Amino acid sequence: MSFSVKTVASILAFAFLTLADDCSPIQIRIAYAGPGGMAVSWNTNDRMPEPTVFYGQSKNKLDRRASSRISTTYPTSSTYNNHVTIVGLEPATTYYYMPQCGTQTYSFVTAPDAGDKNAFQFAMVGDLGTMGPDGLSTTVGTGAANPLKPGELTTIDSLQAMKSSYKFVWHVGDIAYADYWLKEEQQGYVKPLNTTDHGKEYDKILNEFYNEIEEISQDTPYMVGVGNHEANCDNGANLTVCVPGQLNFTGYRHHWNMPSQPSNGLENFWFSWDFGIVHFVQFSTETDFPNAPDEPGGKGAEDAGPFAPPGTQLAWLKNDLASVDRNKTPWVIVGGHRPWYVSQSECTECQAAFEPLLLQYGVDLVLNGHKHFYERESAIAKGVAQELDNPTAPWYIVNGAAGHYDGLDVPPLPLVNTSRKIIIEYGWSLFTVHNCTHLTTEFIASGNGSVLDTATLYKDCTC
Ligand SMILES: [Fe+2]
Repeated sequence: MSFSVKTVASILAFAFLTLADDCSPIQIRIAYAGPGGMAVSWNTNDRMPEPTVFYGQSKNKLDRRASSRISTTYPTSSTYNNHVTIVGLEPATTYYYMPQCGTQTYSFVTAPDAGDKNAFQFAMVGDLGTMGPDGLSTTVGTGAANPLKPGELTTIDSLQAMKSSYKFVWHVGDIAYADYWLKEEQQGYVKPLNTTDHGKEYDKILNEFYNEIEEISQDTPYMVGVGNHEANCDNGANLTVCVPGQLNFTGYRHHWNMPSQPSNGLENFWFSWDFGIVHFVQFSTETDFPNAPDEPGGKGAEDAGPFAPPGTQLAWLKNDLASVDRNKTPWVIVGGHRPWYVSQSECTECQAAFEPLLLQYGVDLVLNGHKHFYERESAIAKGVAQELDNPTAPWYIVNGAAGHYDGLDVPPLPLVNTSRKIIIEYGWSLFTVHNCTHLTTEFIASGNGSVLDTATLYKDCTC
């Protein structure tokens, strides 16, 4: 007698678990979780007493299981966020998995060991919102701009179409733009729900986003950083209605499971991970440093955080960068939401906090979003440009052009003197880590997949 994977998983589930009434997994998303680790997250309509993932190296034999007790929700959320971290996996290896109560088997590939010299690519996006009737589409509301042209792919479509070309997605903040529900209603773009419970309006758009990225995030690690729209309560409109779920990074804190535990960071705010010859670092430009814009009294007026005692984030960043073994991971690439080198208003508070450490520890590349265009800068040290031929300073790239309901920004002229290329189109970035001396960026137009910009950083390195 033989059993299907689904049947075996169901038998195991009933044998070991107490099931919730509605445990069907939705919005499945994975993320790297330290050496040999993979975080599997998904939502359910009911709380899971013991969220469990069945997994194995054969699609037809999910003979291992990992569980947790993490099934959380928050006011205004209609679902529960379940998080399980699988550990003890082999590097650069394909595994198959199924969250409990699932009906479909998915797969993922673990990260290679730190120091693995194989070339690889990764995707980077910033400021990516819901697509379709409640987000970016071919129509806009009164006062909004930059609708999609008929036939254009969205950034989510484009990322999906090219999924086989990159190992993971890195979304450096501003996720879903569900906080724009009120602006979209006020501009006559979406019809208000027939309810006085405005949390439902926020939650509807948020759920749409996680549904939309699932085709990518279910089998491709989706790494995120925090942006201001994870705590935004001006709705891009009037300060009239604010629902609890969109305050203080609440939805963001619940939805994701970034590798802060294995990197001694904090929640989904600051953390790091290795992939081959690169050490990746994500930090928060929103809270937890002097004059942080989203903290009480900050210029962002979000009244959010802080999340740790003063100095914690910067002390962590200093220690993390100081601990990198550059023989194993010669490249260090950092991401933070708000830029400080860009042809528009800039985050001088972020620069004061972070730039000295990035210079001191020889960071190679800084990725930012927040501005809704693409701008490739030179390498820069304290405002002074260096070109990409073995610079001593980090190279800066701003890409917040993934697209959301309210379109793209127009930077003021003249451009800053460190600007090398600016593009006002919806798109995402594809990075190629060739080896320890060459790293290439390409800006991909989401609409048709064309490459609108490319540049390569050279570092004099022996490997
Ligand atoms: Fe932003």
